[in-house]
Amino acid sequence: MNAGTVSTEYILRMEDVVKTFGGFTALHQTSLTIPGRMVFGLLGPNGAGKTTLLRLVTGLISPTAGKLTLFGGLEPGASAARAMIGYMPQSLAIYPNLSVVENMLFFGRMYGMGEGALKTRIDEVLETIELSGRRDDILANLSGGMVRRALLGTTLVHKPKLLLLDEPTAGVDPVLRIKIWETLRKLCDEGTSILITTHHISEADRCDRVVFLRSGVIIGDGTPDDLTRQYQADDLEKAFVVATKEGVAT
Ligand SMILES: Nc1ncnc2c1ncn2[C@@H]1O[C@H](COP(=O)(O)OP(=O)(O)O)[C@@H](O)[C@H]1O
Ligand SMILES: [Mg+2]
Repeated sequence: MNAGTVSTEYILRMEDVVKTFGGFTALHQTSLTIPGRMVFGLLGPNGAGKTTLLRLVTGLISPTAGKLTLFGGLEPGASAARAMIGYMPQSLAIYPNLSVVENMLFFGRMYGMGEGALKTRIDEVLETIELSGRRDDILANLSGGMVRRALLGTTLVHKPKLLLLDEPTAGVDPVLRIKIWETLRKLCDEGTSILITTHHISEADRCDRVVFLRSGVIIGDGTPDDLTRQYQADDLEKAFVVATKEGVAT
């Protein structure tokens, strides 16, 4: 990794990015700049293009047109960029027959971390996700909420600068959801930038900045307060409804 290439100017810049699958446009011409050190939310219903946008950032898929750069100028697929990203996909990409620690070792080694640094870091992450006491349990024996936390843990092992979280709280009970948000806020305070997708308005309300996404088009962008004011709504939920209606009309 070349730290010299890391810029604090922006974490992600999309310039006229389009993504099509066959004849279907999942993301229409999109331009967006996300500064670092914030919790940035992508709010939209199923099929809005949230996962597509995150996958473009990981470099797993490439734009059909336009340009997407990370950390002040890196291509998404570049190894320097990948080393700085932690990606928690929507489906549980984790090994049920391995313990919490073994899962973390697997991901840490995949990122080429040395064993000493890895062990120290795993202890730190286990504290953060509050799973120190269950570190040697195999995932198949843990509750759904604990598995979610373990999954978050595997994305944190290599100390990513940018965390991409695809609906990390889907199907999670309210208590755990609050806990996960406390963890995210702490990570952000420590300098991690977070790009999170959700279809929960209450979660979007906790973000520093939110983009409304609908049918592959950005129909709103600002702080939750800005968006509420912009649409002359009482709260973010009503702002989203108004934005959606205006999006249909245009
Ligand atoms: N690999 C793919 N091939 C074809 N269509 C896709 C593919 N990935 C996503 N899509 C389509 O693109 C649209 C946006 O999908 P997605 O990004 O998963 O939305 P979201 O995450 O907001 O639910 C959907 O209509 C989906 O069916
Ligand atoms: Mg999705």
